[in-house]
Amino acid sequence: MRSPIIAGNWKMNRGTPDEVKEMLKKFIPQVKGIDLVDIVICAPFTALQTLIEITKKTGIKAGAQNMYFEEKGAFTGEISPNFLKDFGVEYVILGHSERRDIFKESDELINKKLKKALYMDLKPIVCIGEHLNERESGKTKGVIEYQMNETFKDLNIEEMKKTVIAYEPIWAIGTGKTATPEQAEEIHVFIRDLLSQKYDKETADSVRIQYGGSIKPSNAKDLFNKENIDGGLVGGASLQADSLTQIIKAAENTIK
Ligand code: PGA
Repeated sequence: MRSPIIAGNWKMNRGTPDEVKEMLKKFIPQVKGIDLVDIVICAPFTALQTLIEITKKTGIKAGAQNMYFEEKGAFTGEISPNFLKDFGVEYVILGHSERRDIFKESDELINKKLKKALYMDLKPIVCIGEHLNERESGKTKGVIEYQMNETFKDLNIEEMKKTVIAYEPIWAIGTGKTATPEQAEEIHVFIRDLLSQKYDKETADSVRIQYGGSIKPSNAKDLFNKENIDGGLVGGASLQADSLTQIIKAAENTIK
């Protein structure tokens, strides 16, 4: 009932039109015909125009990596959700751990952005996850529950259903250390239980929960085979067409 969603997060790594073209020239033919997996590329703002132009007639969707919660005004350096929408952007990553840790984004700020994104009809991919010291001291579920309560505060059922959650253990991001499928599944089940308590079972069953953190072609299949893992948010491995395609195919194979 939940279709898998694979989102590439290019971070600040591919941002010029030439870099976008080079990747997509290979990638588009490779994923042609895959229509049961939602494919999203979240690119830097400077790459979005080229990305949208080139992917127009394909099923690939464009996503941004951040946005502000106001539509207009004196917010030097920020990007309005209005600009993104007008541009043809469909998805937006919110609350990535790099935004939380490096740029000190709070749950409260992420909640404001999330409500605005939903209001603007942008599809949010919201990241949550624990640090290594939190996992090692047995606090993972407490951290996740807190983030779920604060980040998704005051979302109604319809809004929650439109939101994609990305569970990204921070210790697994860009480190090559992946959570085992069992470790990831345990937290995905926990997240779904929280949704079930806060909303209802039907809502919990319909929200897509991605895993993120060093997904590679070699570990994608085992992760996506878990019942509650509905695809992935992919950083490093999304920069190359071949590896991203293999990850998407692994997600497709869980459907057939
Ligand atoms: P990674 O990044 O796949 O390079 O670990 C994932 C992410 O930060 O979304």
